[in-house]
Amino acid sequence: MDKPLNILLVDNDPAQLRTLSLYLESEGLSVCATTDPLEATNLVRGKTYDLLVVDLMMPEMDGIELVKACRHIQKNLSAILITGHIDKMDQYGSDIGLYFKTVLPKPLDIDLLIEEISKSTRYGGNDMSTKEIQEKLVEDMQSWMKIEDAAVSSTGAIIEKTDNPVIRMVMEIIQRDSLMHRHVQEFIKDTLVKEPVVMTTDELADVWEMIEKHIEIEKKTIDTARDALEALKGKKMVVQEYLLNYLLVDEQKHDSLLETLAMIKKGMYPYG
Ligand SMILES: [Fe+2]
Ligand SMILES: [Fe+2]
Repeated sequence: MDKPLNILLVDNDPAQLRTLSLYLESEGLSVCATTDPLEATNLVRGKTYDLLVVDLMMPEMDGIELVKACRHIQKNLSAILITGHIDKMDQYGSDIGLYFKTVLPKPLDIDLLIEEISKSTRYGGNDMSTKEIQEKLVEDMQSWMKIEDAAVSSTGAIIEKTDNPVIRMVMEIIQRDSLMHRHVQEFIKDTLVKEPVVMTTDELADVWEMIEKHIEIEKKTIDTARDALEALKGKKMVVQEYLLNYLLVDEQKHDSLLETLAMIKKGMYPYG
């Protein structure tokens, strides 16, 4: 039989906590319940939980502060927020989307909560635990890094063998990209085995003006590449067209990286 999911339940209302706890246990979940958010952080320090289910309004620490504190200890802890103030959620802005898989209103619909629990702890339809997913991801990154190493040496060998400047240029592009890919794979791996990484909306806001200016720069490069390609149309300048197409796609890639950041900032992208 599968190991039951470990749920950490935090609500300052003891009656609500007890009822909810009994319901979840009757569904076969393993539940740790506390009315005290500080005790909750201690519990997270001592054990890995699959999911935190937390009330928004609590006297010592609200649900958002609590999930932030817990994520410092268990970086990928999923969370569901419960609140009797669903109408006031706007004031919390996009942070909610960063920290919670979902927000459920009080009075709580238990069936809906059970459904959300199974959704937020099941990844892409498989039943792997968060820890198993992390381990698989680390393995995948390690084997991918080896493939990039092979790409770097293979492009190097081709560069050595040919004097043709176009082939050399293409191989140089691929070689540098492969090094960068490897760097990103290593970064992803490190976020799982060393330092967890978070990005807050405040950190984004700090540099957002500069990023917006940079987005303008990227748009200009895309326009320039398109203009140049337009000018070449039908002129049979195969090499130039080939390389300009590469530049266009690459500039579009930069643009899309930044557009995704903008979506994360608006809370429209499920980050975290
Ligand atoms: Fe690659
Ligand atoms: Fe660019």
